[in-house]
Amino acid sequence: MRVLVTGGAGLIGLAARRILAAQGHEVTAVDITDFGRNDSRLILMPLSDYAGLERIITERGIEAIVHGGGISGPVMARDNPLLVIDVNITATAHLLDMARRHQLRRFILLSSHVVYGDVGPGTITEEFPLHPGTSYAASKIAGEALVESYSREFGFSAASLRLTRVYGPYRRDNCFLRSMILDAAAGKTTVIPCDPGYLFHYIHVDDVAEAIAASLSAPTLARRSYNITSGQVLTMPEVIGIARGALPEARVEMVLGVDDAPDIQIDFDLARAAADLGWRPRFALQRGFSAYLAAMPETPDIAL
Ligand SMILES: NC(=O)c1ccc[n+]([C@@H]2O[C@H](COP(=O)([O-])OP(=O)(O)OC[C@H]3O[C@@H](n4cnc5c(N)ncnc54)[C@H](O)[C@@H]3O)[C@@H](O)[C@H]2O)c1
Repeated sequence: MRVLVTGGAGLIGLAARRILAAQGHEVTAVDITDFGRNDSRLILMPLSDYAGLERIITERGIEAIVHGGGISGPVMARDNPLLVIDVNITATAHLLDMARRHQLRRFILLSSHVVYGDVGPGTITEEFPLHPGTSYAASKIAGEALVESYSREFGFSAASLRLTRVYGPYRRDNCFLRSMILDAAAGKTTVIPCDPGYLFHYIHVDDVAEAIAASLSAPTLARRSYNITSGQVLTMPEVIGIARGALPEARVEMVLGVDDAPDIQIDFDLARAAADLGWRPRFALQRGFSAYLAAMPETPDIAL
């Protein structure tokens, strides 16, 4: 399939490009920057360049869009909610409309577990109500609503993937796993502010990229949203224990504190993704952290 990937220089975009290309898809990637990597295969343009994006769709005969570009977490642009809304919601609407007008075969939005908000006990299915706790979460819910409305109203195949915390090479910031690796290399102690009982849902970026690939190659998409996570639920002391198993030199100090995304979410149901997409996670953190460690670029912020 000829696929347009937005956010192609990002953590997930890079992995999705690699895995989709390996599966025989013809990938066109766009991003506002290549982070100084001299990435000659990336087209540099902002998401607001709607005419430019439409030109790419026409000239390259794009058949599907994977939309991962934009403000990618609740901490980014926290002091500028209108930017989050503008970049995330408006661009999603324009891309969906391009998909409608060009009759693309599929549209995949990268959404987030934050759409559920503070859920409390219970395994979260995709039918759970959505409760945005941040502008970022609201932007994802709005994007998902547009995916659903466009899909129903105009009859094209689209879905949102609700990803939990993604780790892997080329993540740029705000990740304790990344901090542990970089701090250990620099001989520094990683300080992690955290409630020791709080539950983390990490997923390796290759599992996410494979879920994206599965959502493109499934003959039909029976539902509009899919939980995508590793299925492994861990407290921070457990996360640190696993990380130190692969990286014994890591020095970590946990101090009492609140996480940046403090919603209580116990567990996620993955049956829908398995049934409809044929996707199951492959990486528990033990394996995923070692893979991350082995693939960590020497200069993680700039090297490709
Ligand atoms: N990383 C996670 O833990 C996680 C979890 C849930 C959902 N997601 C979603 O997955 C998607 C990809 O996330 P990621 O982790 O790869 O993040 P990322 O920040 O690494 O990638 C996002 C990319 O979007 C680009 N971008 C930002 N603003 C842009 C603009 N105005 N025009 C063009 N490009 C722009 C950035 O340059 C960046 O390369 C995002 O939609 C994010 O919300 C990520």
